[in-house]
Amino acid sequence: MDKTFLAYQVEKKRDTFLGKILERSISDLPKGNLTVKVFYSSLNYKDALSASGAKGVTRNYPHTPGIDAVGEVVDCLDNSFEYGEKVIVTGYDLGMDTAGGFGQYIRVPSSWAVPLPAGLSMYESMCLGTAGLTAAIGIDLLEKKNGISGKKAIVDGATGGVGYLAIDILSMLGSDVTAVTTKLETKKELSIIGAKEVLSIEEFKSYVRQPLSKGIWDIGYDVVGGELLSNMLTVMKVGGSIACCGNVGATTFSSSVFPFILRGNSLLGVDSQGIEHSKRTSLWNKLATDWKPFNLERFSKEIQLKDVDKEITRILNGKQVGRVIIRLN
Ligand SMILES: NC(=O)c1ccc[n+]([C@@H]2O[C@H](COP(=O)([O-])OP(=O)(O)OC[C@H]3O[C@@H](n4cnc5c(N)ncnc54)[C@H](OP(=O)(O)O)[C@@H]3O)[C@@H](O)[C@H]2O)c1
Repeated sequence: MDKTFLAYQVEKKRDTFLGKILERSISDLPKGNLTVKVFYSSLNYKDALSASGAKGVTRNYPHTPGIDAVGEVVDCLDNSFEYGEKVIVTGYDLGMDTAGGFGQYIRVPSSWAVPLPAGLSMYESMCLGTAGLTAAIGIDLLEKKNGISGKKAIVDGATGGVGYLAIDILSMLGSDVTAVTTKLETKKELSIIGAKEVLSIEEFKSYVRQPLSKGIWDIGYDVVGGELLSNMLTVMKVGGSIACCGNVGATTFSSSVFPFILRGNSLLGVDSQGIEHSKRTSLWNKLATDWKPFNLERFSKEIQLKDVDKEITRILNGKQVGRVIIRLN
């Protein structure tokens, strides 16, 4: 194992947060029985919140963000993984208050790691990352509640990580998907990944009347929250469900009780951070096989640590398209 490594570290100076690439010592890593040499991480919205000091994400600075990491085991004190075994670590406290995947090494409890499934390369696993796992958790909930094949689905935040992976998987599973996006110029790309219909926010709003509109969609995946979620709740068919994971638009939303009491609609919460380990492992295995997105690499780009700042600004401004993969080693 190397004695030192490079990491992107965010420092707090009064009320400003500044990221720098620094040389760290292996002995600086937090406590944990599993040490992993990180090959790739990926950029998620939450990493951008952590790097910019958003309240409720990271408490203690200096800090290395990165809620996703894939790499090789270099030390495992409880022998649950072998030296050199490839593992994925996402969620739990990684990148929140535990130094994360924007460093060339991480140290975590071995119970956080999942073996890299045979059907995924390390790079592909980060094209998915937390975004892919989150898409899969929501789709799993929707499948159990309503089924997927032949259903009319609506997905917002369509060009973001969770959104585009959800569109890809839902359409692959036989759903007729409507994508809602702020970037109508990506209509062609969204059609290629499987969207049958692509709507701008304004076009989507033309279907919406509060407190209830005509029921058009059977299932929904909301990553935006706020007004878009309020609107989506009015356009679901009887018995329809929405999986809800995000807050890029707003953390609060309003609704009447009518979708719930007149149409039996359901709002299904998605939590990728704390999902139990056995479920996490089984969904990763699905993402490597039957649910492996057709267009996994199409909307992904690889960058290096030196480019992270620029991509953080882009994701915070809602301008990111697809997934950003960070090469570490
Ligand atoms: N609950 C969980 O476990 C969990 C896990 C992962 C992510 N999340 C959350 O899910 C959300 C999406 O994550 P992500 O990694 O996919 O983020 P992302 O890659 O930044 O995607 C978000 C997308 O939402 C749209 N958008 C951004 N700002 C918007 C706004 N103000 N109004 C309307 N649309 C906006 C944009 O897509 P268009 O331009 O195409 O509309 C953007 O690309 C975040 O809030 C994240 O924290 C939650």
